[in-house]
Amino acid sequence: MSDASGRTVIVDDLDGHYEDVRNRESILKAINTGQKLVFLTHVLSENMEHQLDFVIAALLKKYDQEHLQSTFYTCLKEIVINATKANAKEAYFKAEGLKIDQEEDYERGMARLRGAMNEAWIEKYGAAAKEMGLDVSITFEHNSDGVRVLVWSSPMKAREESRIRQKLAEGMRYDDIVAFYLANADQTEGEGIGLVMILLLLKAEHISPHLFRIGTVEQKTLARLEIPLSENFVSVRGADPAGHKK
Ligand SMILES: Nc1ncnc2c1ncn2[C@@H]1O[C@H](COP(=O)(O)OP(=O)(O)O)[C@@H](O)[C@H]1O
Ligand SMILES: [Mg+2]
Repeated sequence: MSDASGRTVIVDDLDGHYEDVRNRESILKAINTGQKLVFLTHVLSENMEHQLDFVIAALLKKYDQEHLQSTFYTCLKEIVINATKANAKEAYFKAEGLKIDQEEDYERGMARLRGAMNEAWIEKYGAAAKEMGLDVSITFEHNSDGVRVLVWSSPMKAREESRIRQKLAEGMRYDDIVAFYLANADQTEGEGIGLVMILLLLKAEHISPHLFRIGTVEQKTLARLEIPLSENFVSVRGADPAGHKK
């Protein structure tokens, strides 16, 4: 496959840091031929992190936008960690015989979980999620106009949906990390700043924060991040993702 200008671009000269990436050859092949890439994960292992970092590096190299590496990777990592946490939570509730959809059970489970969701917990319930067939799937679609990543996870609960709305609204209110920090330094104590950070990182690269979306589709949670690479990029939400012309 070729890019918009008819060139076939072969990406295989990334620095040594990526030499040991698992499935390196098949990843490069998919990128060089314009195919979609799909990854399944349960705990976001170091191997998987390295693979996602590599996919982004190879895509950005192919399309000549390497400066977006850390923004793109940091956002995606946060999205995937949130997704694996959601699936592990679902597995935990199942294992404990709690009905995550019922407010009372949800509160009971969350009270037990408070403070318990460390790395070992994620390992344990990520493995349980895998056994239960609860996958986080990550799909990359790409061409020279942009990259779109879709991350699917267990359906979000009412409480989570309202937290997401609240966090995204908060992220929209600030222009940059410094403004956010100055306004929140006293309260947040590092809690729940992932979604806000995503919006602020996108803004810092002059990427519309509306290109990050999270919602419910076909009874699952879908987080979608679109990274435009040319003037011709069209969001799946249409040419005007914010819903108003500039
Ligand atoms: N994929 C998801 N599924 C369900 N809930 C989510 C998902 N992503 C985010 N959330 C909800 O949004 C909240 C805020 O996310 P975030 O800003 O990343 O903070 P944190 O991960 O530290 O809680 C989470 O606590 C969770 O309730
Ligand atoms: Mg988070």
